[in-house]
Amino acid sequence: MAAQTSGASGDASRPWQTLSAGFEQARARADSLDRLVEWPAQRELLGDVTGLAVLDAGCGNGAKVAQLAGEGASVAVGVDISGNFIETPPDVELIQADLSDLAAVPGLSGRRFDRILFLQSFGYATDPVRALQVARSMLTDDGFILLTRTQPIRYALERAEQNGTTVGEEYFSTERFSYKHRNWDDQVTLTKRPYTMSDLLNTFSTAGLWIEKAVEPQMSPEAAERFPEKYASMNKRLVGILMFKLRPLPGCGAGH
Ligand SMILES: C[S@@+](CC[C@H](N)C(=O)[O-])C[C@H]1O[C@@H](n2cnc3c(N)ncnc32)[C@H](O)[C@@H]1O
Repeated sequence: MAAQTSGASGDASRPWQTLSAGFEQARARADSLDRLVEWPAQRELLGDVTGLAVLDAGCGNGAKVAQLAGEGASVAVGVDISGNFIETPPDVELIQADLSDLAAVPGLSGRRFDRILFLQSFGYATDPVRALQVARSMLTDDGFILLTRTQPIRYALERAEQNGTTVGEEYFSTERFSYKHRNWDDQVTLTKRPYTMSDLLNTFSTAGLWIEKAVEPQMSPEAAERFPEKYASMNKRLVGILMFKLRPLPGCGAGH
């Protein structure tokens, strides 16, 4: 499939209709970084979800939000554009829709959530600031957003290797770039908008959010011993994923 363009500034999300099956297969592997590193760290940051209302924006097949329902979340909703969902347990709502404006998703208008998740999905919002502002307005008083994004230096390193350029040139480039994830589906091209760390951090503050906690999870020594090749490839790229616990800034119309 050819690269496709998307809205104003987000990454192109249409290819996901094709890509989602390959992504879920790769994610399910025992040695996937999601299983070894990302989900354990995300789960820890979420803490106890008993009795909480959770919304997973860009939920993939919905397995993560379904697990949270199994661990006591009183409301568990997933939204994903691909519509490639697991069979829905009765207490989980999975909705095929765009995460760019969560309040406009059928059935979500006027609802509030204690936890809103954007796990490797936030880049696909048409307007990232607006997507976060809307999510912020849907939080309960003590609610927070858990957002994870690939460390941008990783893309810069990969593109510098591919293009014979330097990391600095690629890191500060503003040109969209095409990206294939061969582990998922080598026929599908995603287009990505480059971002720097300051772009990402400024998006949060412009959206009226502050960072309560940031985490850069690493593979545990046990996992590194079990999957040495994975560990070596992770170390080669130096950097992986950034995770942020985001709360509404006081005085920014937070919560409501
Ligand atoms: C890298 S996957 C992450 C999936 C899941 N959050 C996880 O952590 O495993 C990105 C997900 O975002 C979804 N997605 C892409 N663009 C979207 C959009 N505009 N609205 C809703 N979901 C979108 C894709 O279908 C895919 O499931």
